[in-house]
Amino acid sequence: MKVAVIGSGVMGPGIAQVFMTGGHEVALQDISEKALGEGAESIRKSIALMHEKGILENGEEKYMPLLSVTTSLGQAVEGSRLVVEAVPERPDIKQALFSELDRLCPEDAVIVSNTSSLPLPEIFPDFRPGKFFVCHFFNPPPIIPLVELVISGRTDKGAVDWLKGELVRCGKKPIVVKGFVLGFLVNRLQTAMAREALHLINRGIVGPEDVDTAVTAAIGFKSAWQGMFDTMDYIGLDTVAMAYGVIFPDLCNDTGVPPEVTEKVREGHLGVKSGRGFFNYEGGRAAEVMEKRQALLLDQLKLWKKHMT
Ligand SMILES: NC(=O)c1ccc[n+]([C@@H]2O[C@H](COP(=O)([O-])OP(=O)(O)OC[C@H]3O[C@@H](n4cnc5c(N)ncnc54)[C@H](O)[C@@H]3O)[C@@H](O)[C@H]2O)c1
Repeated sequence: MKVAVIGSGVMGPGIAQVFMTGGHEVALQDISEKALGEGAESIRKSIALMHEKGILENGEEKYMPLLSVTTSLGQAVEGSRLVVEAVPERPDIKQALFSELDRLCPEDAVIVSNTSSLPLPEIFPDFRPGKFFVCHFFNPPPIIPLVELVISGRTDKGAVDWLKGELVRCGKKPIVVKGFVLGFLVNRLQTAMAREALHLINRGIVGPEDVDTAVTAAIGFKSAWQGMFDTMDYIGLDTVAMAYGVIFPDLCNDTGVPPEVTEKVREGHLGVKSGRGFFNYEGGRAAEVMEKRQALLLDQLKLWKKHMT
């Protein structure tokens, strides 16, 4: 199968890699030659590293010939059964692209968007109803197994089942979210936890380091291997009912973004990309932590694939 991935920024190259290592021919398209060059290089490096770690059986010699890069949208989508849109999260840019895709793609092409928040089939109800839905990958796409397929009542079930099967064959774990809720599933769960963490920091009960220790040394430590509902079963639902009855009324339900975040944004402390956020990444530490993160996630993926697929 040929797959077209539109947009070669943070997400597009990783999504292209997922389909390439699944054995598909991929055309990566962008309006910027520079983005395409950098995208192809990041795919090459990522495949080499995954091969070196033993996650991919083959290396770049096998997969890179499956990739073509182009600034021509027509060339990218020609003969593509699947088109994945990964252009910036701006409805105006996406709308202009969808008009072009509508003109260029065959009737039976499945067109999906990697949007992280926009209810696109609701914003653009006339664009290919049935064969257009959300396919949300997580960063970095070649490593994180989950993909959220977000569909509406108008989505063609055959198209969703088909894509789900293709994603599984590419080593992914897709789930189907039936209906547009802001944040889909994962970002809603994460946001709920983040709100409580920020609330406790605001009350001075714990600091960011303590929250991160709690997440990595307890919640996250277990949660790659056990989910929320099997955890409730392990605890015992009588205990769960008692604990939730006491704790739920005390949880934060504020709706504003807390000052712990807005003040940092105002001061330009945006995290790794600006050298400072909740923690300090100055003096080369940013590259160091990001590299370590990638290596650890790859080790985690290797173990996860062994036990969870
Ligand atoms: N960054 C993340 O962690 C993340 C995670 C999940 C989903 N998403 C979603 O994925 C999508 C892409 O995000 P990103 O972070 O990769 O964006 P990005 O800004 O890093 O990259 C977008 C790319 O699209 C290109 N582009 C702009 N207009 C175009 C057009 N008309 N045709 C072709 N290419 C065009 C740009 O040159 C750029 O290279 C967004 O909808 C975003 O919400 C992002």
